[in-house]
Amino acid sequence: MFVITARHQHRENGQIATWIVPATLVPDSPRVVTVLSPRNFTHSLIENSGRFVINMLADEQADLVPLFGLVSGNEIDKFDGLEIGRTATGLPVLPGTCGWAECAIIAMIDSGDRRIYLADVVEQRVNPGKVPLRKADAFSRQPADILRLLQEKHRLDGIKDALLQKKFGHP
Ligand SMILES: Cc1cc2nc3c(=O)[nH]c(=O)nc-3n(C[C@H](O)[C@H](O)[C@H](O)COP(=O)(O)O)c2cc1C
Repeated sequence: MFVITARHQHRENGQIATWIVPATLVPDSPRVVTVLSPRNFTHSLIENSGRFVINMLADEQADLVPLFGLVSGNEIDKFDGLEIGRTATGLPVLPGTCGWAECAIIAMIDSGDRRIYLADVVEQRVNPGKVPLRKADAFSRQPADILRLLQEKHRLDGIKDALLQKKFGHP
């Protein structure tokens, strides 16, 4: 489980993301592919700045999943009360994670409902001794009412995305 954080001018935010994969074997120039919804507030910051930070959640951070995956930064300040760190370029970093990687976008594919980004990792830190939070554990640790809300949001997002995909057509 990851939280992608971003900043553009004075606005910053973060969102849960799971669709992140390595995109090269070259050890000196790490790259990733990430798949993001253009409906998310975080996406607007990324689109404008060309950069984002991948924060890998630690096993004890399941409580951050509703905050970053259920509500939008358009409605609340998700960083309120968190001790936010900074990358060298000033992007926000979550505390207590397994580590983070700042990424600079080099290519994008628009599929209507999603934007698929290829990005270079430009700075990264690992916090030793932390165990990554697995998706199954993150869900099994949510209270029943939050779990229902997560499942309902997932269902509704699929319906909204279907409309975006249809409007866009198949490339
Ligand atoms: C388990 C889980 C995985 C998710 N994976 C992604 C993802 O890979 N890409 C994405 O764009 N949104 C993903 N989301 C949805 C966003 O985290 C969610 O819509 C969030 O509220 C957007 O916040 P924002 O509007 O503040 O950016 C995921 C949500 C959950 C709960």
